[in-house]
Amino acid sequence: MSEYHGRWSNRFTYILAATGAAVGLGNIWKFPYIMGENGGGAFVLVYLACIALIGVPVMMAEVMIGKYGRLAPSKSVIKLARDSGRSSAWRVTGWGGVIAGFLILSFYVVIAGWAVAYTWYGFTGSFTGRSADEIGQLFSNLNASPYPLLGWSGVIVLGTSIVVGKGVQKGLEKAVNYMMPILFVLLTIMVLYAANTGEFAQAVRFMFEPDFSKLSWNGVLIALGHSFFTLSLASGIMIMYGAYLPEGTSLVKTSVYIALMDTLVALMAGLAIFPVVFANGLPAGAGPGLIFQSLPIAFGQMPLGSLFGGSFFLMVVVAAFTSSIALIESSVAWLVEHRGLLRWQAAALAGFAIWLVSLLTVFSLTGAEWSVVSLWGDIKMSYFDLLDYITANIMLPLGGLIISVFTAWAVKEEISRKMLDTEPALYLLWQTCLRYIAPVAIMLVFLNLIGVLDL
Ligand code: TRP
Repeated sequence: MSEYHGRWSNRFTYILAATGAAVGLGNIWKFPYIMGENGGGAFVLVYLACIALIGVPVMMAEVMIGKYGRLAPSKSVIKLARDSGRSSAWRVTGWGGVIAGFLILSFYVVIAGWAVAYTWYGFTGSFTGRSADEIGQLFSNLNASPYPLLGWSGVIVLGTSIVVGKGVQKGLEKAVNYMMPILFVLLTIMVLYAANTGEFAQAVRFMFEPDFSKLSWNGVLIALGHSFFTLSLASGIMIMYGAYLPEGTSLVKTSVYIALMDTLVALMAGLAIFPVVFANGLPAGAGPGLIFQSLPIAFGQMPLGSLFGGSFFLMVVVAAFTSSIALIESSVAWLVEHRGLLRWQAAALAGFAIWLVSLLTVFSLTGAEWSVVSLWGDIKMSYFDLLDYITANIMLPLGGLIISVFTAWAVKEEISRKMLDTEPALYLLWQTCLRYIAPVAIMLVFLNLIGVLDL
């Protein structure tokens, strides 16, 4: 086991890299549409509670594992388990993370491909002066045949493999230093524009007035799963980033910052999208196409709309790209460590495998008949929905459950106390969240959903 000797040059680079992995399609594309599908306010409230009481403590736990072990994720887990006198079987979290990351990436690249297409549409003026119907048509045309989708998502797969294969993430991180702030500024402009021209008050009520009659148990599970998805948890990546954390950097404070930024971006995306959705009579529950069917209407009407529209989707592509790189990293690292491949070979192989599996999502979006699978009863889902559901709503919460139990029950308190290095009251809060709140909440939601409980 060779120890990682590199360290992030400072706290700020670490926060940027971790935020780069966290902020992505989950915030800008997924959060608004699942919120819309699940009735708004009550969903947002449950989501925020999941982030605060489960997501943030689990993030601290993962960073702690990495910082303690200073090794690849599963090896760090083994080291921490052994030093706590526990079985090395806890390393199962590692495998689950690699598989979940791989499956997530298979649909992530296709959605990122939509954003690449929309960057092109934006800069070439395709939104200008279009009606809501015409904007909707643009979206259906994009999904009418598999070839354009394959091309656009291929750009992302290829780019990700090349960057990871050459190991030039460092250079990319520098570029991201500039792009994250631009994304922030553009989102702010969109929120202000939406506040002026759209149904802003209605959107604020929709997002912040909780109506629990609109939230099902399935909705609660989606909020829970999304809190793991959006913070990039349970896929090994935060353990890996924690392994490079400089001594003396507080993992408690940095985790809170990262979660705050991530949540802010998601809420801003909602505030930019829903005023446009309501002003144009679009359904809030339109599904995965929501952002692509709403924001271009606003870009089409505003001054310099082509510039803003193109730049906005370009920033979405960048945000998705930094997440894709982190997502493919666990598969590539696994192939290098366990199969002895060279880095570029591992990146090429992982890229090719991702591309193959991404076909399931491409054909789900074009509506191919074979892409709909019948589950039990009369429940039917497309492969895309199934991949999303299994990863975000089942694998990630299960991974989070194992990490919670491992770090808060199995790891020696002496070690976790020293690693967290925070006030006793905060430590107790962290421990309580992971010992009781997270496991009980996750189990409760699962049991309700499969009908064992009936709350
Ligand atoms: N957090 C990313 C987003 O919101 C998606 C994601 C999930 C991810 N798991 C990850 C990114 C692991 C990097 C690594 O878009």
